Amino acid sequence: MKLLVKGGHVVDPSTGLNQICDILIDNGRISAVGESLTTPEEHCSTLDASGLVVAPGLVDLHVHLREPGQEDKETIATGCAAAARGGVTTLVAMPNTRPATDCPEVVALVKEKAAHTGIHVYPAGAVTQGQKGEALTDFQALWKAGVPAFTDDGVPVQNLALLRQAMQQARTLGLPILDHCEDKNMVRNYAVNEGEVSRQLGLPGRPAIAEELQVMRDVMLAKETGARVHICHISTAGTVNIIRRAKAEGVAVTCETCPQYFILTEEEVLRQGTMARVNPPLRTAADRAAILEGLKDGTIDAIVTDHAPHCAWEKAQPLEKAPSGMVGLETSLGLALTYLYHAGHMSLMKVIDRMSTTPASLLRLPGGTLQEGRPADLVLFDPDQVWTVNRDIFASKGRNTPFHGFQLKGKVKYTISMGQIIYQEDERDVI
Ligand code: DOR
Ligand code: ZN
Repeated sequence: MKLLVKGGHVVDPSTGLNQICDILIDNGRISAVGESLTTPEEHCSTLDASGLVVAPGLVDLHVHLREPGQEDKETIATGCAAAARGGVTTLVAMPNTRPATDCPEVVALVKEKAAHTGIHVYPAGAVTQGQKGEALTDFQALWKAGVPAFTDDGVPVQNLALLRQAMQQARTLGLPILDHCEDKNMVRNYAVNEGEVSRQLGLPGRPAIAEELQVMRDVMLAKETGARVHICHISTAGTVNIIRRAKAEGVAVTCETCPQYFILTEEEVLRQGTMARVNPPLRTAADRAAILEGLKDGTIDAIVTDHAPHCAWEKAQPLEKAPSGMVGLETSLGLALTYLYHAGHMSLMKVIDRMSTTPASLLRLPGGTLQEGRPADLVLFDPDQVWTVNRDIFASKGRNTPFHGFQLKGKVKYTISMGQIIYQEDERDVI
């Protein structure tokens, strides 16, 4: 079965292609990219993409799917449906499940459940058994099971001897360590950034230095061990500076950030309470400006969601008790287009590069490209359509977004994975 995607504005950072043309998909793969493509055969459907941008499907390196163990928050099926709705065709699932993804059996279970969702799901392996921070997992076995990286995201490793060993082993296997950087003793279970807002609320806060010290530590260990280290969801100006300097020195360190860190500040907590509680926390306007700068100059390699669904009742608890995290799969492209592209900070090419091509290459995943012969994973979006975020129609079980009611410009119309249309906007998506 063939599919001809006709007349779209094709943006492919992997080749630099940036023009109106057609894409022919055959048997789940891209078979031709060019102008005025035609197919004589009758077994070919045509998708009119005029007025739309056609880009490689988004690759989200940081998603909490919650299954196994916390299916009340999200399941692999609902999380993948949310991904499809957001234009994401490939995602890395974080291992803070119950049980943790710390052995080949759990990796296999996640892969099996994801197999029929249409989304390419790559479960990351835990660094330590049960993510307890005490003993390393069997890296070799997890590597054989197909994990693309190791991470203890959610409960990052504090023991430096252990982390150093983890980097040494990861290096031997050629896989990166993805590290959530916050010093546990400095942040405890605190709800907000340490600063003006924490003082106003009379709460202890999570200081920027708690993130920066661990980033510094990781940079030094990356340099010493030769491991590839990728810093998760960076949020402070200091972190951007540390990574910028480390890259200039040639250290193999890369990093990601999320829409919330280039759009919101800690003040959002005063307006939205627990909806704006996330780890690391929303920071100051100066931090937000530095994150934006880091994205523009390439210090920050990737935009991810840190999609972290929680139940409504959990987020209804007081700020100090509620869990941290926000959903993001269904809003990330619209947010990036609105606040990066339409705001004049980044070209479409750069936005797609940060959300698809570069993340795919960091973890050496298929995807992030529209080159002939590669899997036909595509997102088609209207870059100018204005819409309003409505969490009540999310495919995710999680309703915990601080962006509910935001008016965005740029909307996903179709998501195609392995040549199949896995999402198509319909009247239920419009309010
Ligand atoms: O806010 C967060 N939520 N940060 C994390 O690192 C983990 C995540 C979660 O699992 O809920
Ligand atoms: Zn994290």
